[in-house]
Amino acid sequence: MAILVTGGAGYIGSHTVAELLDVSEEVVIIDNLSKGHKKAVLGGKFYEGDIRDDDFLDKVFKENDIEAVIHFAAFSLVGESVQDPLKYYNNNVVLTLKLLTKMKDCGVKKLVFSSTAATYGEPENIPILETDRTLPTNPYGETKLAVEKALKWADKAYGIKYISLRYFNAAGAHISGKIGEDHNPESHLIPIVLQAALGKRSEVSIFGEDYDTPDGSCIRDYIHVTDLAQAHILALEKLRNNDESCIYNLGNGQGFSVKEVISIAREVTGVNIKAVTSERRPGDPAVLVASSEKIRKELNWQPKYGELHKIIETAWNWHKNNPDGFGD
Ligand code: UFG
Repeated sequence: MAILVTGGAGYIGSHTVAELLDVSEEVVIIDNLSKGHKKAVLGGKFYEGDIRDDDFLDKVFKENDIEAVIHFAAFSLVGESVQDPLKYYNNNVVLTLKLLTKMKDCGVKKLVFSSTAATYGEPENIPILETDRTLPTNPYGETKLAVEKALKWADKAYGIKYISLRYFNAAGAHISGKIGEDHNPESHLIPIVLQAALGKRSEVSIFGEDYDTPDGSCIRDYIHVTDLAQAHILALEKLRNNDESCIYNLGNGQGFSVKEVISIAREVTGVNIKAVTSERRPGDPAVLVASSEKIRKELNWQPKYGELHKIIETAWNWHKNNPDGFGD
C-alpha cells in the first residue's frame, strides 16, 4: 500500500519523501507546484494537480491503494496570512477538509498533519509544552489550529487517527546536497543569511534589537529538515500500531538569537556577512523554543543534526552549489 504525500514537492515535503523512499515505502506525491519544485521530488509516483479539483483527487485515490496520508500542502507565510487571511483559510482549512472527506469516503484512516509553533502564539512558558495554551496571533496559526480541532472530531466520528506535528523553525538541507530550501520570495532567516554570504543580497536585516532577550534579537529553535522528516516516519509507525491520535512539538529544545545565527553562518561560510538593524517584524514573538520531550520519549525521536552549526553547514552546501535553487 502507498503513502500519499500532499505538497511533496515543497521544502519539508520533499525531504520527507526522500526519507520514505530510503525506507522503501511506496510513495505517491501530489503537488500543484504553486510553491513546490518538481526537481525536489527524488522518486515515487508524482501527480501534478490540486486537491480542490474533485476529478484529480478521485483519480489519485482510485489509481492507488492508499494506506495513509502525510499532508503538507498549505501556505505558510505568517505575514501574508495577516494581509490575506481568506487565502489562508481557503487553502489551509477548506482544502484539508476536502482531503479528510475523501479519506473518510475511501476508508483511509491514518493522517500525519503538518502543524506549527504558530498555534501557540505568545508562549506562556519556555520551553513550550504541547499542553500549553494555544492562542495564535496570526491567521496562519489559526488555520492550522482549526484543522487540529477538526481532526479531533473526525477521529471521534470516523476513526481517522492522526498525528499532528507542530514544527518550530525548519532549516538545513539534505545531507546528499540534492535538495534544499528554495522559496520565492525567500522570507526565512537562514536562507536569507546565506544568500547574503553568496552576494545575492547586500545585507541581512535583523528584525528588532530591542526584544527582551540577552542580545535583543529574537530567539528561535532551529531543527534540521531531515530530523523533522524522520519524525513523520516515526509518526506513521505509531499510526500503524493503532495508537491513539496525538500532537507533538518538534524542535531541538535550544534557542538561538538572530545575531547568533548570523555569527554561526559567518563561521560556516567564512564570509563577513553584513547585518543591519531594522524594525521589528509585526507578529514575531520574542522567544519560541520547543520542549520535544514528548516525541523523544514516546516515539524515541532522536535528532541526527541537532547542532545549529551542522544545520547551517548543510544549508550552505545546498545554497553554494545551487545559488538559484532548483532553477525553475
Ligand atoms: N528574521 C530577521 N531577518 C530576516 C528574516 C527573519 O531578523 O530577514 C528573524 C525573524 O524576525 C525571526 C527569526 O529571524 O525572529 C526567524 O524568522 P523566520 O522567518 O526564519 O522564521 P519564523 O520564526 O518567523 O517562522 C517559522 C516558520 C513559520 C511558522 C513560525 C511560527 O517558518 O512557518 O515559525 O512562529 F509559522
